[in-house]
Order: sequence, then C-alpha cells, then structure tokens
Amino acid sequence: MANLLITGAAGFIGANFVHYWLARHPADRVVALDALTYAGNINNLDGAMANERFRFVHGDIRDGELMEQLLADADIDLLVHFAAESHVDRSIHGPEAFIDTNVVGTHVLLQAARKVWLEEKRIDRPVLFHHVSTDEVYGSLASDDPPFTEQTPYAPNSPYSASKAASDHLVRAYHHTYGLPVTTSNCSNNYGPYQFPEKLIPLMLLNMLEGRSLPIYGDGRNIRDWLYVEDHCVGIDGVITHGRRGETYNIGGNNEWANIDIVQLICRLLDQRFGRDPSLAERFPAAPAAGGGRSEELITYVTDRPGHDRRYAIDATRARNELGYQPAESFETGIEKTLDWYLTHEAWWRAVMDGSYREWVERHYAQG
Ligand code: NAD
Ligand code: TYD
Repeated sequence: MANLLITGAAGFIGANFVHYWLARHPADRVVALDALTYAGNINNLDGAMANERFRFVHGDIRDGELMEQLLADADIDLLVHFAAESHVDRSIHGPEAFIDTNVVGTHVLLQAARKVWLEEKRIDRPVLFHHVSTDEVYGSLASDDPPFTEQTPYAPNSPYSASKAASDHLVRAYHHTYGLPVTTSNCSNNYGPYQFPEKLIPLMLLNMLEGRSLPIYGDGRNIRDWLYVEDHCVGIDGVITHGRRGETYNIGGNNEWANIDIVQLICRLLDQRFGRDPSLAERFPAAPAAGGGRSEELITYVTDRPGHDRRYAIDATRARNELGYQPAESFETGIEKTLDWYLTHEAWWRAVMDGSYREWVERHYAQG
C-alpha cells in the first residue's frame, strides 16, 4: 500500500496516470497536485474526484513549504513527478517558464523530498521519487542512426529539452550525492485522451473538424516514435515497481512515423467516419468531409520550427528485459481510440479552445 503525490496531475499524462493508478492499485491513496496552468484542466480528473482515496490540491511545485507539508502530512512514500511546461513551440517563444518550472520546480521538489524523507525521516517505509522525462534530452537522430539507449549522451536542442535534461541531471545528482531513492523514465511522444490541442495529433484532428488548415512544419518528414498514453502509464508503473533505484529507463512504442504520414492517416480515418456516420456532417459542417471533400485538402506546409529535431527513436531493450515492458496498444487501435475520445468529448475541447474553461478555473480556484 502506497501514498502517492502526483505532480502535474491535471495535465495530459498526469491525469491518465491518476485514473490508471486508482484502477490498478486499489489500496493506494493519491494526492494530485497541479498549478492549473493553461495546460492543466481540473475536468481531466472528474472520474477521480468522488473516490475517497483521491484528493486534489491546487498548488505550485515551486512552493517548497507546501511540498514539504504535503509530503509529511499526507505520509507520502511515492512521488511521481509529471509537472512541467511541455510544449517545444512555447519554449522557443518563452523559455523562462520552462526554466522556472522544469528546472527550479524540480529542484524545489527534490529539496523537499530530501528534507522530509532523508533529514527528518518522517516516513518509516521505503520511499521513491520517480521523475517523468522525455526522449528529447538525447537530441536528434539521422535516418540511419540506431535508436536512443540509456547510454546515449544527452544533447538537448530546444529550451524545452534542455530544461528537461537539466532536471534529469538534478534527479541523478540527488541520488548520487544524498542517496535519495530515485528512478527516471525517458519516454517518446505520447498521444491519447486529454491531450491539450496544441500538440500534433489533437491539433490536427480538431482543425480537420473545424475546417482549419493543417500546418505541417518544414517538409513533414520529421520522425517521432509514438506511444499510446496508457502504455506510458504501464511503463512508469513497471519502473516504480521493479526498476533499480538510481537508474533510468527508456520507454517507447517501437513505432516511428513521419509527421505527414500521421496527418494523412488521421485525414483518411476521419473521412471514413464521416462516410459511415451522417451525424458527423451535422455536428461539424465546416469539415471538408461534411461537404463530400477530403480532409487532406487542408494540409498546408508552413515555415519549419527553428532547430526542429529530425528524428527521435527509442531502444526500450532495458525496460523489456528488466521490467518485462511491452506496449499493448498498436498505433492503428490507439489512433482509433483517440479519435473516438475527441469525437465524444466535444464539450471538453471546445471549453479548452475557446477559453471558457480558464474563466471557470479563475472563478473556482483563486490563486493560493
Ligand atoms: P501537460 O503540459 O499536458 O501537463 C503538464 C501539467 O503540469 C499541467 O497540468 C500543468 O498545469 C502542470 N504544471 C505546470 N507547471 C506547474 C507547476 N509549476 N506546479 C504544478 N503544476 C504545474 O504535459 P504532459 O504532456 O502531460 O507531460 C507530462 C510530463 O511528461 C512532462 O514532464 C513531460 O516533459 C513528460 N513527457 C511528455 C511527453 C508527451 O508526449 N506529452 C513525452 C515524454 C515525456
Ligand atoms: P509536438 O506534438 O509539438 O511534439 P514534439 O515537438 O515534442 O515532438 O510535435 C510533433 C511533431 O509534429 C514535431 O516534429 C513538430 C510537428 N508539428 C507540425 O508539423 N505542425 C504542428 O502544428 C505541430 C504542433 C507539430
């Protein structure tokens, strides 16, 4: 039985992880912390709110006093750290927030864990700080390079990946210097329910539904490895449960796709759905498919992202050998599930996109 503090719990992966953990670990208690930035959405936790093993705290990981108080008062023995600024494009336009949350914020959490767990010895059971990171810390691969292993040297290229790399190093240093029990996972691109529609897959899908252009950066041949978000949750669970303390584990889908191929796939799948279900044309009259056209007509090549990494790919041999890790979802089924989710959660994404959700947060969660 464990008491978890999950940071960034109202974000995309954090919220999926909360639901996953409550379902899979019926004896555990979860404190979900989130600052509810533009990317955090309290509605993502709807299904958990009524659970008596769950509690939401509106707070910032940079608030050291609050972090210490939560760790001690809630008797936390497992901290799972998702909170971050997570979008590369935003990091290009405004890197400061990435340094503040990803670097300083992670360090404040580490300090709190060190104080409460190691210095004051407030918890009388084994403890663990699990840090959730990204494959982007390893930099960019050429088309014929082997995938990233845990031994690949760090070479981050964007302010986002540099800030995540810095946080990974701090986590490692707290283990080596102070003996803080830590694990880190470096995962590839996730997709699935609750993903904020600034990231490739939900952005493209919602633009198709609304008849807006589909902006493809550069030549569209940049490659990412894609993993269904629940498979990421399973991987993190494996690292927490069986991973060696002080180690890092790469988690990936063995599923490399060029951006343009993904966008074309979603176009095809959506057009097929419009063909099968006439109610979609009534709900989304601006979609090309509603007038018998094709979503592909919306594809527009735009100026490339500065410093755009060409290719990411993950070698997950360590996770497979040591943790028995294997993704369960195929890309075909995962994308269909994701389409289903966005088509059945129109109120969620409309509120996110038109800003009415934010006004609601400001009314209900005055800062503090
Ligand atoms: P997200 O942007 O959807 O969610 C981040 C959450 O953190 C939001 O709810 C936000 O409100 C919260 N947050 C931000 N600053 C905070 C602060 N100072 N204090 C408390 N909460 C704060 O991000 P995501 O896609 O869910 O990513 C979660 C983690 O997983 C990140 O650490 C990211 O680097 C990592 N990751 C993401 C992917 C991916 O494909 N999305 C892949 C690998 C790793
Ligand atoms: P993104 O979802 O932002 O994730 P990351 O940059 O962390 O990999 O982008 C995924 C890929 O899609 C990346 O190569 C950039 C590209 N992209 C576009 O071509 N157009 C877009 O509008 C977005 C958001 C991304």
